[in-house]
Amino acid sequence: MSSMNDKVALVTGASSGIGRAAAIAFGKAGAKVVVVARREDKGQETVRLIQEAGGEGTFVQADVTKASEVEAMVQKAIATYGRLDYAFNNAGSGNSGKITDLSEADWDLEINANLKSVWLSMKYEIPAMQQSGGGAIVNMSSQGALMGVAGYGAYGAAKAGVIALSRAAAAEYSGDRIRINIISPGAVKTDLWAGAPPEMFDQVAAGIPIGRVGAPEDIAEAVVWLCSDSAAFVAGHNLVIDGGFTAVQ
Ligand SMILES: NC(=O)c1ccc[n+]([C@@H]2O[C@H](COP(=O)([O-])OP(=O)(O)OC[C@H]3O[C@@H](n4cnc5c(N)ncnc54)[C@H](OP(=O)(O)O)[C@@H]3O)[C@@H](O)[C@H]2O)c1
Repeated sequence: MSSMNDKVALVTGASSGIGRAAAIAFGKAGAKVVVVARREDKGQETVRLIQEAGGEGTFVQADVTKASEVEAMVQKAIATYGRLDYAFNNAGSGNSGKITDLSEADWDLEINANLKSVWLSMKYEIPAMQQSGGGAIVNMSSQGALMGVAGYGAYGAAKAGVIALSRAAAAEYSGDRIRINIISPGAVKTDLWAGAPPEMFDQVAAGIPIGRVGAPEDIAEAVVWLCSDSAAFVAGHNLVIDGGFTAVQ
C-alpha cells in the first residue's frame, strides 16, 4: 500500500473500538491523525497509542451530532496540521429497541448519532478536502443496514441512510477528486457490545463462515486501504466486512 506520509486523517469515534484501531492504523501508514471523540481521557489514550506505534496524532473533543462542534473539529484539524486528506466518519451508538417500544428521544438519538453525524462531518470535511486538492472519506454503516435485525430498527434505518447519503456524496464530489465509500461491518468485539453476555460472541461466530467475530483491526485495515491511492478507482462502494455472514443468509 502507498505511504500516507504528509497526509492528514481525521477519525471520529476514535476513543475506543474500531475508531481507535483505525486511528492507530492511519498513524502506522504515516498519516498525522486527528482523534475525535467526546471522552478526552480515552481520546488522549488513543493519541498515546498512535505515538507508541511510531505515529503522530492530536485529540479534538467534539460531539459529532452538533453542527457547531463538527465545524470546530474540522477547523482545529486544519489549524493543527494545515490540511485534511482522509476522514473516517465512524462515531455511532448501537442502542435500539423494538419499534413500538422506542420513544421519540430514542429514535432521535440513534438517527443523530449514526446518520446526522455522518452528514454533518462530510458537510465540513468536504470543503477542507477541496482546499487540499482532493481526499477520501469512509463512512460507517453496518451489516444491520442490509438485513432485518429484531430490536435494531432505528439503528438499521440510520445505517441504511448512511449508505444512501454516501452514494449521493460520491456522485456529487468524485469530480472534485474526493472518493467517498462506505463500510458495513458484521459483529466486531468492541465496547458497543459491553452489555452482551460473553457466550453471545461464540453463538454469533458459529454463523460466520470464517468462524469468528471481527476484531477492530480487521476493519481498520480496510478503512486505510479504501483511503489509500491503492483504491484510486473505488468510489461509492459499500464494502461488507463480516467474515462472510451476509453471503450465507
Ligand atoms: N462493533 C460492531 O459489531 C459494529 C458493527 C457494525 C458497525 N459498527 C459501528 O462501528 C462504529 C464504532 O463502534 P465500535 O463498535 O467501535 O464501538 P465503541 O467502541 O463503542 O465506539 C463508539 C465510538 O463512537 C464515539 N461516539 C459515539 N457517539 C458520539 C458522538 N455523539 N460524538 C462523538 N463521538 C461519539 C465514542 O466515543 P465517545 O463516547 O468518547 O464520544 C466511541 O469512540 C459505530 O458507528 C458502530 O455503529 C459496529
